[in-house]
Amino acid sequence: FSLQPYNTFGVEAKAKYFIEVQTIDELKEALNFSNSHALKLLFLGGGSNILLTKDFEGLAIKINLKGISEQSLDENHALVTAKAGENWHEFVMFCLEKNYGGLENLSLIPGNVGTSPMQNIGAYGTEIKDVFVSCTVLNLETQEVEIFDLEQCRFGYRDSIFKQEGKGKYVILEVTFKLTKKDHRIKTEYGAIQSELEKLHISTPTIQDVSKAVINIRQSKLPDPKEIGNAGSFFKNPTIPVSQFEALKQQFENIQGYPNGDWVKVPAGWLIEQCGWKGKQIGNVASHQLQSLVIINATGKATGKEIFDFSTGIINSVKEKFGIELEREVNII
Ligand code: EPU
Repeated sequence: FSLQPYNTFGVEAKAKYFIEVQTIDELKEALNFSNSHALKLLFLGGGSNILLTKDFEGLAIKINLKGISEQSLDENHALVTAKAGENWHEFVMFCLEKNYGGLENLSLIPGNVGTSPMQNIGAYGTEIKDVFVSCTVLNLETQEVEIFDLEQCRFGYRDSIFKQEGKGKYVILEVTFKLTKKDHRIKTEYGAIQSELEKLHISTPTIQDVSKAVINIRQSKLPDPKEIGNAGSFFKNPTIPVSQFEALKQQFENIQGYPNGDWVKVPAGWLIEQCGWKGKQIGNVASHQLQSLVIINATGKATGKEIFDFSTGIINSVKEKFGIELEREVNII
């Protein structure tokens, strides 16, 4: 079964078995099938954060649970719950139509609701942890439904329990967010949002305006996976000790960094660009010309292995020039 339509890189890889599930019962049935045949499992959401480097000799399960429900919490807040298979951006648009605030900075992020807690998706000064209440998961071992609250999810930068101790143990079924009904907290600290709003001549932005600005920014520099295969940022922005940053600053005076206590987060895109990779193409793979942190399937014919090797080339260059080891954000299968 070809997984090409199920990964936004658009690479070809086959799964031995494939099933799409719409309900928890169907999911359990699929799990029972995999147990009785001793199959490995691969869960597919929007397919926007995986790189398939070879055929998968197990059961791929596409999570297609759908539905959104709302509940008023108090005068200014609503609890909004979306099932895992809802498309993330469509969910954000649904919230904005209802004038629920909190997710507008996360407009146009590829993927589904169910994978948003895995890596605590974030952009333009917001992360889902800022509005996250809980998620319902299926424990794969016990087949019991469990609830993880904010604390239990242990969110960090592009990180959660589901990428650490909980890896491979749960399937996220639905996610609940606490959103504002009025008195929205507009977040425009991110420089690019401010300049985009100025361009649009908006001085007192609504949440819908912020969303529009974010959409414009993303469309101006991030490739649309429907047109050019990619998985957004391929690497995480590395965090290095202040002392290492200061030493690098002596050598590379333009290096940028966002201090956080004893640590400094350095934009990986800058490091990659400095190594000469921005816009560079090898075979079917390239680093995006407007945002070098994004690796693209430039010809549409790239294999997962080619993309992986390209990313290794970037890691080696950055390590050699800056002594920083980039970490892949995309899950390698
Ligand atoms: N930069 C360069 N060259 C490049 C790319 C970036 O010099 O090729 C510099 C920019 O000039 C800027 C800095 O790096 O000063 C940061 O760039 P940008 O604002 O584009 O953000 P980013 O750190 O590269 C992160 C997220 C994105 C998210 C943006 C906006 C990660 C791994 N990526 O990128 O998330 O949209 O911030 O908040 O944290 C994603 O995860 O798929 C993703 C797109």
